[in-house]
Amino acid sequence: MRRTLLLLVTLFSLLHIAAQTPDAKMKTFVAGLMSKMTLDEKIGQLNLVTPGWGVPTGSVVSKGVEDNIRKGRVGGLFGIFGPDKVRQAQTLAMNESRLKIPLIFGLDVIHGHKTIFPIPLGLSCSWDTALIERSARIAATEASADGLCWVFSPMVDIARDARWGRIAEGSGEDPYLGSKIARAMVKGYQGTDLTKDNTVMACVKHFALYGAAESGRDYNTTDMSRIRMYNEYLPPYKAAVDAGVGSVMSSFNEIDGIPATGNRWLLTNLLRTQWGFKGFVVSDYTSVNEMIAHGMGDLQAVSAQALNAGLDMDMVGEGFLTTLQKSLKAGTVTTKQIDDACRRILEAKYRLGLFDDPFRYVNDTRPGKEILTAENRQAAREIAARSMVLLKNDRQVLPLKKSGTIALIGPLANNHTEMLGTWAVSGDNTKSITIQQGIQNVSGNSVSIVYAKGANITDDSAFAKRISPFAKPTEIDARHPDDMIHEAIDVAAKADAVVVVVGEAAEMSGESASRTDLDLPGSQRKLVEALIKTGKPLVVVLLNGRPLALPWLQEGASAILEAWFAGTEAGNAIADVLFGNYNPSGKLTTSFPRNVGQVPIYYNHKNTGRPFEGGDPKFKSDYLDVVNEPLYPFGYGLSYSSFSYDTVLLSETTLRPGQSITASVTVTNKGDVAGEETVQLYIRDMVGSVTRPLKELKGFKKIMLKAHEAVKVDFSITENELKFYNSDLKYAAEPGDFKVFIGTNSRDVKEAAFRLVK
Ligand code: NOJ
Repeated sequence: MRRTLLLLVTLFSLLHIAAQTPDAKMKTFVAGLMSKMTLDEKIGQLNLVTPGWGVPTGSVVSKGVEDNIRKGRVGGLFGIFGPDKVRQAQTLAMNESRLKIPLIFGLDVIHGHKTIFPIPLGLSCSWDTALIERSARIAATEASADGLCWVFSPMVDIARDARWGRIAEGSGEDPYLGSKIARAMVKGYQGTDLTKDNTVMACVKHFALYGAAESGRDYNTTDMSRIRMYNEYLPPYKAAVDAGVGSVMSSFNEIDGIPATGNRWLLTNLLRTQWGFKGFVVSDYTSVNEMIAHGMGDLQAVSAQALNAGLDMDMVGEGFLTTLQKSLKAGTVTTKQIDDACRRILEAKYRLGLFDDPFRYVNDTRPGKEILTAENRQAAREIAARSMVLLKNDRQVLPLKKSGTIALIGPLANNHTEMLGTWAVSGDNTKSITIQQGIQNVSGNSVSIVYAKGANITDDSAFAKRISPFAKPTEIDARHPDDMIHEAIDVAAKADAVVVVVGEAAEMSGESASRTDLDLPGSQRKLVEALIKTGKPLVVVLLNGRPLALPWLQEGASAILEAWFAGTEAGNAIADVLFGNYNPSGKLTTSFPRNVGQVPIYYNHKNTGRPFEGGDPKFKSDYLDVVNEPLYPFGYGLSYSSFSYDTVLLSETTLRPGQSITASVTVTNKGDVAGEETVQLYIRDMVGSVTRPLKELKGFKKIMLKAHEAVKVDFSITENELKFYNSDLKYAAEPGDFKVFIGTNSRDVKEAAFRLVK
């Protein structure tokens, strides 16, 4: 009788589980597992370690990792990849830990795993969200083939300060475009089903406002009004959350005087209560411990503060692991808080399908078939070409002819080491294509190349060491710099066209790579100035991870191609653009200043009460020594075609709630070759309850136009495009006058006006 009853109860609960929604099933499973866990094991799940078997991305590595895995004191690992290493660690957890809870494996897959795409700032210049999603999809396939199920990307920090090296890792200065890109990347990584073996969990970072570090110095203080946060800095993080991102990484900086990692308003009120985020929050590398240096207390105090704030996982610092038990006893944290954090991490593992198969992402045959394939490399080449921005092209020096002699000059012209850019931790430099190789590949035997290095990246040995943190210092040639320049001039004299490739070393941007000088390093500037003096048409290819301030180059060079760090296929893609196999279409997503004194500089700024609009500049908001405008504005980029814009036409001049206005413009390709143009729509709210920016991007369309073709482009404007957060942080559109601008960049626009009536 009792046995029958027991059987019936079991059957009933099995049927109950079977009838549950996937979410409820997960909850039941995780609750069941947690009921078996000790406090120590629960805290163990909150511990993320890096064993130092891979590429360092911080200054300390975890100790005693294997032993801790055995004891159930590790939730996940990062910084290692490859089926062998991942299997080794997962086997330890599955065979030797008491509850056999699988580990989660993460990595900084930022712009590709092994097939490296352009740095994110470059990618954003494509203004092509489908293309960016594709790059993330390929990265996810390669990463998952290499044993990983979690990537520390996308980085969506809005950045307006070129001094900050990490501007390279994001999508520039605009919240609207940044939000679209954030969504595309989350979709690309996570797909629609996280349990598939070729999708990975994304981690949006760095939450929040990390890009607003004072004076562009990395890790520095940020301080801004709530209204600025909501309107200008938070939208891309929110877009990632709305797109279903599985995890969020807290940032190093403070917000309102409280480090993000221990900021309850940020991690709980905003992220969970207001935005409804359901995943887990991981700290940045030792950012819990760094709260000690911020002045928030000792390790036990800051760890308790972080847990209280809503942090779930502690990266590397082991503050949770070593102090939470004590804090529980002292009553500064609760069991519920530990349980909540543990549950969120176990739920992430469940969503990844790790409880069904802990070795789901471990497959020895996949790397050989799915990583760095010819197809992936081809995609990288196409994507890289689309991320480049043509900044100048006097008298159509570009595209180059596929004949005669080309002088190829510069420290970055034939340099495998610097092609991938920052944050390519699993990329292999030796697999990259240099510009010299690319030019050879694209021009075949029809062009003869004469080469000279011309200059060192830098002549300063101390600086060379600083910019090569992971390798031997950037090479400094034994020759005297003047001799190298003379050789370059001799080589240039022999050629029909001169291409000089200059810029930054890969690690001159990225983490802990802030600069106060936005010029080329002196050695390279001297070289380029000497080449300008020869009077020969000079094509400059720039490789850099931030906007540089180069008015003298704009003056002296015949053509300038901003190629960023374009990744594994850099050389081929650059050659595709130089020879016109691909007609450049990239547009800047970050303003290029004229000098460092203009920074921070961004197009969507306010008017002030004393704007300088011509006339007598005294008592106006301007500089004595330089104009206010950037050298190249947001949205700027040329093509081998040229596009003209007709007048902006509006379907109505009054907009009512629930209705829409169509803004149209006819764009004509006046050139003789087909080309792509990104048509940009900006809006200005003329009068508001709070001051409003001079322009805000509210739409864009990338169109392909045949030679001499004209196309009408329509944008729909609804009340949604007019909404903003007011001083009560209420998101609404206010009735009144608006201007619409449509154009080829944020500066060169045609305008029309309408009124919102409510
Ligand atoms: C520190 C960086 O800020 C973050 O972007 C990265 O994901 C972690 N280190 C892990 O390497």
